Amino acid sequence: MKKSFLLFTFLLLSASLPQAEEAKVAVGNNGIAIPEGYKNFRLIGVSQRSDDQTLRAILGNDVAAEAARSGKTNPWPNGTILAKLGWKQKPSDKFPAATIPGDFTRADFMIKDSVKYASTGGWGWGRWIGMELKPYDKPDFAQECIACHSIVKDQDLEFTRPVKLP
Ligand code: HEC
Repeated sequence: MKKSFLLFTFLLLSASLPQAEEAKVAVGNNGIAIPEGYKNFRLIGVSQRSDDQTLRAILGNDVAAEAARSGKTNPWPNGTILAKLGWKQKPSDKFPAATIPGDFTRADFMIKDSVKYASTGGWGWGRWIGMELKPYDKPDFAQECIACHSIVKDQDLEFTRPVKLP
């Protein structure tokens, strides 16, 4: 009896572990939490920034990936989540001509909901920094995001054009 109770407790604990892992990422000062399952989002684009020597992968949830594959991205549909994950770039020690990701720098998110986020361009904005995913704590930081993303206001405030796939 005691043994099976222990086993049951163990199973219960291990089943709740993945959720606990996501839950410990602190919520941003605008109330936006890090989107669940973002590490399994699909590929939308890649980029390299020469100004800060970083590589980026732009990923999207299912809604985003379907929109990207069917070319319906202006505007992106409600429910779209775009993630941009960044890493410091470095040469491969096995093959120096190859540039590969080093330290993780941050995760940025744009969450489309034209009603809920009407006051911030129809997108919810989120940023978590470093491996510890510390929320970006600048007050009202969405204004900073929007100021730069306004360069592409004719693309629904979104820079990345989905990669071409065969
Ligand atoms: C100074 C300009 C600038 C600022 C400020 C900025 N971004 Fe971006 N962002 C870019 C550029 C350029 C890209 C596309 C190229 C890249 O960096 O990969 C981009 C891409 C993104 C993407 C991928 C989707 C897309 O639009 O291509 C997300 C998500 C994103 N940014 C979120 C944010 C968030 C959240 C903030 C504010 C905390 C922010 N950005 C602030 C310039 C900016």
